[in-house]
Amino acid sequence: MNVLVIGSGGREHALIYKLKQSPLVQKIYCAPGNAGIAQMAELVNLAPTEVEKLRSFALKKSIDLIVVGPEVPLMEGIVDVFEEAGLTIFGPSKGAALLEGSKVFAKNLMKRCHVPTAEFEVFSRLEDAIAYVKRCQRPLVVKADGLAQGKGVVIAHSSEEAAEALESLMEEKVFGSAGEKVVVEELLQGVEASVFSLCNGTDAVILGSAMDYKRAFDGDQGPNTGGMGSISPHPLLTREMQQGILETIIKPVLRGLMEEGVSYSGVLYAGIMLTEDRPKVLEFNVRFGDPETQAMMPLLDSDLAQLLIATCTGNLHNVPVQWKNAKSVCVVAASKGYPGHYEVGYPINGLNNIQDAFIFHAGTKFDQEGNVLTSGGRVLSVVATGKSYEEARQKAYKEMEKISFPGMFYRKDIAFGFD
Ligand code: AMP
Ligand code: GLY
Repeated sequence: MNVLVIGSGGREHALIYKLKQSPLVQKIYCAPGNAGIAQMAELVNLAPTEVEKLRSFALKKSIDLIVVGPEVPLMEGIVDVFEEAGLTIFGPSKGAALLEGSKVFAKNLMKRCHVPTAEFEVFSRLEDAIAYVKRCQRPLVVKADGLAQGKGVVIAHSSEEAAEALESLMEEKVFGSAGEKVVVEELLQGVEASVFSLCNGTDAVILGSAMDYKRAFDGDQGPNTGGMGSISPHPLLTREMQQGILETIIKPVLRGLMEEGVSYSGVLYAGIMLTEDRPKVLEFNVRFGDPETQAMMPLLDSDLAQLLIATCTGNLHNVPVQWKNAKSVCVVAASKGYPGHYEVGYPINGLNNIQDAFIFHAGTKFDQEGNVLTSGGRVLSVVATGKSYEEARQKAYKEMEKISFPGMFYRKDIAFGFD
């Protein structure tokens, strides 16, 4: 099988590492990839949004399976375009990708399907939204309806903070049309979990789970980021809880979509808050998580290529999802200043000294002499596995200490407190 993976992050590197183990897979291409992926796959110099060119490439190279990493091409309808050309592509259609692309769509669907989520209201007029938050007088969460590079969610502890967030979204339009509508919702308390299911139509199976460390600094301080580390499986999610999430959250949402004539195919990532009451949905993403995927792939025993093909062809129950009985810890190294402004182009040292961990590259590239340079905010992740979180954590940090680049920082508390 020839496979094309679209994307350039640590998530895509981890997926390719796992796909490469499959006896079904002969050749892997990645568009556009990074310096780490270049060691496992042939890079294709096309951006994930160059849909027409990617399709021509896939047809020319007789690609048997296309795997889409990031959300933007999914929302732009890459799956619809590729399927029209008779290609097998893993991911949801444009209509189904609205689950991530529009929070209003996702919240209304959950309400209709009685899926547990934070109580919410939707507004399209600033005055109405402000009047509402003033009336509420309690902490609230303000969310832009559309995609806002992960920055469209504000936890507002007072009605003044909520009003400020609403003004920047709806009046100053800091995220453009993404803020034309807003969701204002109840603040949920608890531990967050990322739960991944493979879905086809109304059928779904749990793939796995992880805990994501979203804040930039130790002790969950600093701004939200794309993710500074992860551990897998999620330490608080039992098998029964995962099955509960499958039956009370994932399947009802898939049925709700189907009632609207939309069939979901691909991985569905549910961001869940484990509240005292029960697990409630924070958000849906229509793709694999980053950096959750980096922690998960080294533990997956099943053949990933087989699982993805089974998802695309509606044979989910023919391929069992099997995991190693171990724990995994992923620590992300980032460039100073991330998630704000940062500088790139620095040499990365120590990559050849790693013995006991996986290095998944994100923002890296080669210079003309073949040195690996930084080229992004999140630069790479170090992933280690062990019998316990503690063992995996110690290995990951020991290996991370061998790596350095100017301005490098990483959280020191990933997996802390779990043994
Ligand atoms: P979202 O993009 O909707 O997942 O929001 C990003 C992050 O904001 C989540 O991962 C949570 O950490 C936080 N968040 C979102 N909604 C809520 C909520 N209702 N209560 C508490 N935290 C939330
Ligand atoms: N780890 C968060 C995300 O992938 O959106």
